[in-house]
Amino acid sequence: MTSFWSWYITLLTLGTLAALVWLLLATRKGQRHESTEETVGHSYDGIEEYDNPLPRWWFMLFVATVVFSLGYLALYPGLGNWKGLLPGYQHLDGEAQTAFATGEQGWTGVHQWEKEMAKADAQYGPLYAKYAAMPVEEVAKDPQALKMGGRLFASNCSVCHGSDAKGAYGFPNLTDDDWLWGGEPDTIKTTILHGRQAAMPAWRDVIGEEGIRNVAGYVRSLSGRDTPEGISVDIEQGQKTFAANCVVCHGPDAKGVTAMGAPNLTDNVWLYGSSFAQIQQTLRYGRNGRMPAQEAILGEDKVHLLAAYVYSLSQQSEQ
Ligand code: HEC
Ligand code: HEC
Repeated sequence: MTSFWSWYITLLTLGTLAALVWLLLATRKGQRHESTEETVGHSYDGIEEYDNPLPRWWFMLFVATVVFSLGYLALYPGLGNWKGLLPGYQHLDGEAQTAFATGEQGWTGVHQWEKEMAKADAQYGPLYAKYAAMPVEEVAKDPQALKMGGRLFASNCSVCHGSDAKGAYGFPNLTDDDWLWGGEPDTIKTTILHGRQAAMPAWRDVIGEEGIRNVAGYVRSLSGRDTPEGISVDIEQGQKTFAANCVVCHGPDAKGVTAMGAPNLTDNVWLYGSSFAQIQQTLRYGRNGRMPAQEAILGEDKVHLLAAYVYSLSQQSEQ
């Protein structure tokens, strides 16, 4: 900051403070010293105003705020280029910090943040390191690790997967034993680290509306669902279409292939809905669910804890 602006801010701040003190004292001067029953004379809807001085404790409160602000401005960087009397940032282990080397002294918000981060790292670093060295299955049995994982989940994952991790339309339930990409501990970790991109192609231009109707009827029949009345489908034709176009990803038994993220179509778990209309919609336009990669955002140690947390949720449901 140039010295002009530094002086500008300093004088403005101190000038305002001085003006406030003056105002406080000037209004006090003309006042009587003890309370009376006298009023200032005006009356609004029968409400009148006593002509009494400010109570002493109230006056002292004003004085205290002024004293506080002067102390604050002396300690913290509030006046232009003034750095404050508080010592600069020192690393926890006592090493002189680069802040001193660059001539930066005194308290700053950045230093405060760095200090708190360093403290958190010192406090939790060894804990993360301890868990990172354990296999995910083992971490999933540690109550403290699960608590930490649960908190990470609440702040990073629940927006999409729900605070109970049970998912929503388009966002998979993570508490069941039905997996798009696989439920092995290390597979879950890979999913979270690197993200996943599902690619269910659009079929409208390939098999046409009639083809879609038939194959939708066939897909629903795999989980015991009848075609709604009034819609004519050729299930046999649908089966043929399925065998020709869908088994590469969903498998010959339609039970899904986790390597492709292609779901099991024979169970009662549906990411995009099981109604005849919803399945037709899925087939017409395709689906491309995306799980965002977390490695660059959270780092591997936190992902490790999250994988353990997610794994533990699915284990609970199996019991
Ligand atoms: C290239 C691989 C691939 C092919 C081929 C493919 N699918 Fe898919 N399918 C997927 C993937 C991946 C998903 C999951 C999409 C997501 O998670 O966003 C999916 C999802 C679905 C769903 C939604 C399931 C749910 O839970 O909501 C249905 C229904 C479906 N496919 C049916 C078919 C049919 C019928 C065919 C053949 C006409 C077909 N798929 C061909 C990969 C494929
Ligand atoms: C922006 C939304 C979003 C966020 C945030 C998100 N996810 Fe996901 N996640 C998804 C979607 C969508 C899928 C399904 C991808 C697909 O269709 O294949 C998914 C899939 C998954 C899967 C695979 C499920 C399976 O059946 O194989 C896991 C595990 C998972 N997420 C964990 C997490 C964790 C842990 C976090 C927090 C770090 C997280 N997700 C944050 C959207 C999100």
